Amino acid sequence: MSYKGIIVTGGAGFIGSNFVHFVSREHPEIKIVVLDKLTYAGNKKNLEGANCELVVGDIANKGDVEKAYQKLLEITNNANNEDLAIVHYAAESHNDNSLRNPEPFIFTNLVGTYRLLEICREYNLRFHHISTDEVYGDLELDDPNKFEPETPYQPSSPYSSTKAGSDLLVRAWVRSFGIKATISNCSNNYGPYQYIEKFIPRQVTNIISGIKPKLYGEGKNVRDWIHTEDHSSAVWTILEKGKIGETYLIGTGTAPGTKNEKGGEKNNKEVIETILEIMGHNKDDYEFVKDRPGHDMRYAIDASKLMNELGWQPKYTDFKKGLQQTIDWYQANQDWWKSEKDSVEAFYAKNGQ
Ligand code: NAD
Ligand code: TYD
Repeated sequence: MSYKGIIVTGGAGFIGSNFVHFVSREHPEIKIVVLDKLTYAGNKKNLEGANCELVVGDIANKGDVEKAYQKLLEITNNANNEDLAIVHYAAESHNDNSLRNPEPFIFTNLVGTYRLLEICREYNLRFHHISTDEVYGDLELDDPNKFEPETPYQPSSPYSSTKAGSDLLVRAWVRSFGIKATISNCSNNYGPYQYIEKFIPRQVTNIISGIKPKLYGEGKNVRDWIHTEDHSSAVWTILEKGKIGETYLIGTGTAPGTKNEKGGEKNNKEVIETILEIMGHNKDDYEFVKDRPGHDMRYAIDASKLMNELGWQPKYTDFKKGLQQTIDWYQANQDWWKSEKDSVEAFYAKNGQ
């Protein structure tokens, strides 16, 4: 499948903007409209150098979604609807925020996804829904199983439950209305342009600012890290070769018992220590803070369906190297995050974190 134009929702956020840069670079002939509300997590600067049109608007607002579609028609010279797609990244995305105020999660993640499905139904547009492995709940540290596409949904937080709900809407719209949609559930991303409230950029910018890195609980929780560039190439592979109605898990690891079983799995303590080491500090120069309520213990993805059926492979298999590149980016782009740092830390401090 080749496309003449795509709408990228949430394209001014972390993973969405990395995807826009990926498509601009790898497929310059494709026209891109970014539909983004520019919440605290969206930043126009993330799109500098990418070839796209930005429509500032809310995915939960029918008129704004229609505006983005009209803009796509305009810049593709009225391409046929069969040659157009919506790639849906926009979301309220941070667990800690969802624990303080779930409301925007309901509107954006649920109502917003509904609006996009409806426009796809009306114009017969291809839809790809970006989701998270957190819809599957969590695993014990010694659980021999990993998440697979058929693993039952068991979300823990307002964030993951609204993402789970949005996935179910997509599945229902495929079955009931014949929407041409696919879903991907990816593990934790790292890389440039990630808002500094999230684990890795928070610690990196803490160290640059002379603040000790903060580890929740005992730091034993495991996340399955993937570089955002690999997430982009996986989404592109699904758009080109994915089977309509299917769910693909995106991660760097394979099935239990296979050679690449461990994938990107690392506990939080290991990650903080690696960051400190790369940045030339003592490995134990961090502090423990209050744990997150309902904190998921472990996520682990078996991505063999994506690898075997669609032939995708990750490129960033050396976590330390990817982390070094990410740290370099935050060091070189202090203007991008400096003005937000105090307010993000004040917000966490109020919560004992
Ligand atoms: P982010 O918070 O950095 O960016 C979200 C973007 O969506 C921002 O640009 C924001 O302005 C925009 N947005 C929010 N509400 C909107 C609305 N109502 N209308 C239009 N735009 C709106 O998020 P991210 O980390 O880049 O995550 C992107 C997607 O990937 C999300 O769907 C998330 O669930 C999923 N995901 C994230 C991770 C991760 O590790 N961050 C892992 C797996 C899946
Ligand atoms: P986060 O980046 O919020 O992603 P998610 O909740 O989607 O996994 O957090 C990643 C892990 O890091 C999670 O186990 C919580 C933990 N964490 C800390 O230990 N310290 C921090 O300052 C933050 C923000 C997160």
